[in-house]
Amino acid sequence: MTVLLTGLIPHFKAFHVAMLLVWCGGLFALPLMLARHDPAIGQADYTRIRSATHYAYTYFITPAAVLAIASGTALIFLREVFVTWMFAKLVFVAGLVTFHVWVGYVLVAVAEREGRHNAPRPGLPLTLLLVPVIAILFLVLVKPELLEIPVPGWLSEPRGNQLPFDVPRR
Ligand code: HEM
Repeated sequence: MTVLLTGLIPHFKAFHVAMLLVWCGGLFALPLMLARHDPAIGQADYTRIRSATHYAYTYFITPAAVLAIASGTALIFLREVFVTWMFAKLVFVAGLVTFHVWVGYVLVAVAEREGRHNAPRPGLPLTLLLVPVIAILFLVLVKPELLEIPVPGWLSEPRGNQLPFDVPRR
C-alpha cells in the first residue's frame, strides 16, 4: 500500500496542476465574461453569455477548485510537507477561495438584476488575482525556508497521534 501511494505521487501532482490550471484559468476568464454582460448587446447574445458563465462556474471551475484542493491536501500527507512555505501557500490559497466566492456572488447578482445589473470592470479584480497566483507559484516552486516567520509548535512538531492510513517514506 505504502509503495503504491509513493508511486502515485507524480500522478497526484500532475492531476493537482491540471485542476489548478482549470481553476485559475477560470478565475481569470469569468470577470472578463461578466464584464460582457451588457443588456445593450441584445437578448439572444445576453442569454448565451449568461448561460456560458453559469455553466463554466458550476460545472468546470468549482469542481476543478474542489479537486485541486483535495489533491493538494493528499499531497501534503504523501510528501510530508509540514513546513512554513506550505502554510504560507495555504494563506494565499484562502485568498483564491475568497476570490472564487466573490465571482459566484457577482454571477448571481448579475443574473438576478437582468437588464439593470452592473458587473464590475475586470481590471482591478484581475490585478488583485495575480497576487495570490504569483505568490503561490513562487512559494511552491522556490520553497523558501521562511525562517523569519515563527510557526507554533503544534503546526511543526509531531503530536504523537497515528494517522488512519500509512504515510509513505521518501
Ligand atoms: C488547498 C490547496 C492546495 C494544497 C493543499 C496544495 C498542496 C500542494 C502540495 C503538498 C504539493 C507538493 C509539493 C512538493 O512536492 O514539494 C503541491 C504542488 C504544487 N502546487 Fe499545490 N496546493 C494547493 C493549491 C495550489 C494552487 C491554488 C496552486 C497554484 C495557483 C498550486 C500550485 C502547485 C504547483 C505548481 C505544484 C507543483 C510543485 C512542484 O512539484 O515543484 N497549488 N501542492
